[in-house]
Amino acid sequence: MDRAKKFAVLLVLLLYAVCASATSASDSKDDYEHCRSTVKKWASSSLDLEVKEDKHTLRDLLYFLHIPRTGGRTYFHCFLKKLYASSLECPRSYDKLRFDPSKPNCRLLTTHDDYSMMSKLPKEKTSVMTILRNPIDRVFSTYEFSIEVAARFLVHPNLTSATQMVGRLRLKNRGVSTLDIWPWKYLVPWMREDLFARRDARRHSGPTYIRSNDSYNMEEIVMPLQEYINDPIARDIIHNGATFQIAGLTNNSYLAESHEVRHCVLKYQTLSEHVLDVAKKRLDDMLYVGLTEDHKESATMFANVVGAQVISQSIASNYSADPVVDDKSEESSSSLDSDPETSHHRNSSTGQKASKISSTGNMGATSKNMTVGKLTQVYETCISSLRKTQAQRRTSSLKRISPANFTKEARRQVPEVLLQEIKSLNGLDIKLYKYAQNIFSKQHKQMILKSAAAKMQVQGSQFNNAYGAPSQDIIWIAMSIALLFLFVALFVKARRRTSKIKL
Ligand SMILES: *[C@@H]1O[C@H](CO)[C@@H](O)[C@H](O)[C@H]1NC(C)=O
Ligand SMILES: *[C@@H]1O[C@H](CO)[C@@H](O)[C@H](O)[C@H]1NC(C)=O
Ligand SMILES: *[C@@H]1O[C@H](CO)[C@@H](O)[C@H](O)[C@H]1NC(C)=O
Ligand SMILES: *[C@@H]1O[C@H](CO)[C@@H](O)[C@H](O)[C@H]1NC(C)=O
Ligand SMILES: *[C@@H]1O[C@H](CO)[C@@H](O)[C@H](O)[C@H]1NC(C)=O
Ligand SMILES: *[C@@H]1O[C@H](CO)[C@@H](O)[C@H](O)[C@H]1NC(C)=O
Ligand SMILES: *[C@@H]1O[C@H](CO)[C@@H](O)[C@H](O)[C@H]1NC(C)=O
Repeated sequence: MDRAKKFAVLLVLLLYAVCASATSASDSKDDYEHCRSTVKKWASSSLDLEVKEDKHTLRDLLYFLHIPRTGGRTYFHCFLKKLYASSLECPRSYDKLRFDPSKPNCRLLTTHDDYSMMSKLPKEKTSVMTILRNPIDRVFSTYEFSIEVAARFLVHPNLTSATQMVGRLRLKNRGVSTLDIWPWKYLVPWMREDLFARRDARRHSGPTYIRSNDSYNMEEIVMPLQEYINDPIARDIIHNGATFQIAGLTNNSYLAESHEVRHCVLKYQTLSEHVLDVAKKRLDDMLYVGLTEDHKESATMFANVVGAQVISQSIASNYSADPVVDDKSEESSSSLDSDPETSHHRNSSTGQKASKISSTGNMGATSKNMTVGKLTQVYETCISSLRKTQAQRRTSSLKRISPANFTKEARRQVPEVLLQEIKSLNGLDIKLYKYAQNIFSKQHKQMILKSAAAKMQVQGSQFNNAYGAPSQDIIWIAMSIALLFLFVALFVKARRRTSKIKL
C-alpha cells in the first residue's frame, strides 16, 4: 500500500517534470524561431535597400564610419580636415552624444556611430568610407587605450575627486570629451573605477610584491587582458565590433529593431551569418575601404580615390570664399580618440573657438588650392607630428601604471591560448577582415592599372606628337617587309613546282 502510494507520487512528479521540460523546450524553440525570423527579416530588408550605381563616385555627403582603434583619427585630422573646411563638417560629429542634423548642407560626417546613422542621412546622396583592422590587434588596442585614458585620472587622490573633476570639465567645455563618445563612454569609466580599486587595495595591503612580469596579466595593477575580454561589457561592445558597427547593430544603434536583432544574434550564433552577409554587402557598396595594416597603400589609395574627387568636387562647386587652410585643426577640432586630460590644458578657449568657426560660416573649401600630390605631402607631415604627440601622451599616461607597460616585447609574450580566445570571440570580424582585404587588393590593382593607363596615354600622345611621321613610316616599312616575304615565298613555291615538272 505504502509502496504503491510512493510509486504514484513518483510517477506524478516524473510526469510533471517531463511536461515542464517539454514546455520549456518548446518555449526556447519558439524563441529561436522568433529570433530567426526577426534576423532574417532585418537582413533581407537591409540587403534590399542598397543604392548600387556608381559606388566609386563621391556623392554630396561623405560619411566616414570610424571603427574605434583603426587609425581613423589620422585620416580625420591629416586627410579629411585638409580637404574639407570646418564649415563643411556636419555639426560636432564627434563632440556630441548624437548627430544633430541641423545643418542640412554639410558634406563631411565623421563618427563612431554605426551604420544605422544612414537612416538620418539622404541615402542617395551619401558615400560611405571606413577602415578595418586586424581584429586581434584591434582588441589589444582597445584594451590598451581604455587603460591609457583611464590611467590619466590616477593623478587624483581618489575616484570621487576624479569623477568630480570630469563633471566640472564637462560643464566648462560644454560636453566635449572622449568620455561622451561611444564606446569610450563605457570603457573608460569602467577601467577608471577598476584602476582606482586596485590602487586602493595596494595601499591598504602595504608594500605589494608584483608576482608577474607580464604586463597583460598584472592583476595587482590593472585588469588582466583575459579578464577584460571575458567581461560582459567587452562582449557587448568590443568583440565583433567592426561587423556590428557596419551592420548597424551596435548597442549604440539609432534603430529600435537593431537591438532585438543584436540580442538574437548574440544568443544564437547560427544567426550571425546573416549579419556577416549584410556587413559584407555594405563594404562592397562603400566608396573606400582602407586597412590599418596596409597603411601606406591605404593612404595612397585614399588620396587618389577619395581625395582627388573631393578636390574636383570643390572646384566644380565653385565656392565664392577664399580657401581656408586650417592649420590649427589638430588642436581645435574634436576630441576624438583623444583624452579628457588635454581639455584641462585647453580650458575654456575650446568652446569659444568652436562657436567662432560655426558662426562665421565660411563656405570656402580647404581643397580649392589642393592637389593629390600636395595632399599626400601634407598628410605625411601631419601624421608624423600626430604620432609623436600620441606616443608622448601614451608614455606619460602608462607611467602611472608602471611596471605594467604595453610594449612590443610584452605583447610577444602573450600566451597563444589567449590569442586563440580572442580569435574565437571575434570570428565574424576575422571573416569580415579577410573580405575587406580582398576588396582592398582589387581596388588597389584597379588604381594601379588606371594610373598606368593614364601614364601610357600621356606617353602615347607625346610619342604621336613628336614622332607622328616616323611611326607612320614604321607601319609602312613593316607592311613592305611582310609583302616582300610573301613574294619570296610565292616565288620559291613556284620554282619548286617548275623544278618538279622538269623532273
Ligand atoms: C578624495 O580626495 C579629496 C581631495 O583630496 C578629499 O577631499 C576627499 O575627502 C577624498 N575622499 C575620500 C572618500 O577619501
Ligand atoms: C551598451 O553597453 C554598455 C556596456 O555593456 C551598457 O552599459 C549599456 O547599457 C548598453 N546600452 C544598451 C542600449 O544596451
Ligand atoms: C562660379 O563663380 C562665378 C563668380 O562668383 C560665377 O559667375 C559663376 O556663375 C559660378 N559658376 C558656377 C557653376 O556656379
Ligand atoms: C587658458 O588657456 C590660456 C591659453 O591657452 C591661458 O593663457 C590661460 O591661463 C588658461 N586659463 C586657465 C584658467 O587655465
Ligand atoms: C593657393 O594658390 C595660390 C595661387 O594659385 C597661391 O598663391 C597660394 O599661395 C596658394 N595657397 C596655399 C595655401 O597653398
Ligand atoms: C614603456 O615602454 C616604452 C617603450 O619601450 C618606453 O619608452 C617607456 O619609457 C616605458 N615606460 C616605463 C614607465 O617603463
Ligand atoms: C618574464 O620572465 C620570464 C622568465 O621568468 C622571461 O622569460 C621573460 O622574458 C620575462 N618577460 C619580460 C617581459 O620581461
